[in-house]
Amino acid sequence: MRIGILTGGGDCQGLNAAIRAVVRKSLDYNFEVYGIQRGWLGLIEDQMEKMTLSSVSGILPLGGTILGTSRTNPAKIENGYEKIEEVIKKRNIDALIPIGGDDTLGVCLKLLEKNIPAVAIPKTMDNDVGFTDYCIGFDSAVSIVTDALDKLHTTAHSHHRVIIVEVMGRDTGWVALYGGLAGGADWIMIPEVPADVQEVCEHLNRRRSLGKDFSIIIAAEGVALQEVILEDDCDSIDAFGHVRLDRRNVGQIIGKQIEKITGYETRVTILGHLQRGGSPSVFDRILATRLGIEAVKLIKYGQYGKMTAFQGNQITSVNLAEALKASPKKVSIELYQLAQMFY
Ligand code: F6P
Repeated sequence: MRIGILTGGGDCQGLNAAIRAVVRKSLDYNFEVYGIQRGWLGLIEDQMEKMTLSSVSGILPLGGTILGTSRTNPAKIENGYEKIEEVIKKRNIDALIPIGGDDTLGVCLKLLEKNIPAVAIPKTMDNDVGFTDYCIGFDSAVSIVTDALDKLHTTAHSHHRVIIVEVMGRDTGWVALYGGLAGGADWIMIPEVPADVQEVCEHLNRRRSLGKDFSIIIAAEGVALQEVILEDDCDSIDAFGHVRLDRRNVGQIIGKQIEKITGYETRVTILGHLQRGGSPSVFDRILATRLGIEAVKLIKYGQYGKMTAFQGNQITSVNLAEALKASPKKVSIELYQLAQMFY
């Protein structure tokens, strides 16, 4: 058995822990593993290397991905899928393990439809892949956001300011909601709930009247703001047709509006790619390890077309096509309402 492994889409913490687990379990079964570089691009361009015990030695705590990643969409490359099929044949790869979010996993599904055996592993700090409670990278990103909120509280307090913290989250507000709840945000803005800056301002006034002269607002970069009209700018669209959300500047727009309406001094902090950097949390290391091992077991037993998943503290597997239909997985509105209790 020869497995090809790749990481696609945005990087996050825990990818190396998953790669290590796949390689270790594969070697245990006497399977060969080829590490494909830079996601689907490496498969199209036939860039891969055989992995050994020493290729994964010491990588468990490392952030990023030793394989590299890209947002390559084979559908956007001339004969992209045909090239992938040729390389898989030429390299005698029996099964693929792509680690990624909905875009990478969507490509995996297309390959499965072309009879290329594969088992997927869900990762994305956005945590919005369906049928899994957690994706690799989410817990580490939320820890960084929580730590940032703790730090921003002291400076906001000292200067009696409003601080807007912009976090990642394209279609869903998992990072904003969990980070905001854990870090005691005074308002949380997520893509699932229409934003009303006027309502936020009224709340800030209410807080001031209660003697709370500083506030922290956390906003997911994908939050829907009527005022934000994106320019039709091709550079801002990725290969999967997604707008580059960092260009929307929602944090700055919200900050300006709040300062204008309330007159309270306001600052904006954009956490950006800091959220995806550094060493994975304990939770992500263990999750990635367990999901990686499960993926190899599924391959051993010919269970192709599956995605490994984490449900209720159990590692399990689900049908990839079904999981993608349930993506993006939205946050629970009950949890959002629970967070509102602390505003
Ligand atoms: O794919 C997840 C994500 O973290 C989104 O929340 C964010 O918009 C995007 O990646 C940004 O990624 P990059 O700047 O690396 O393309």
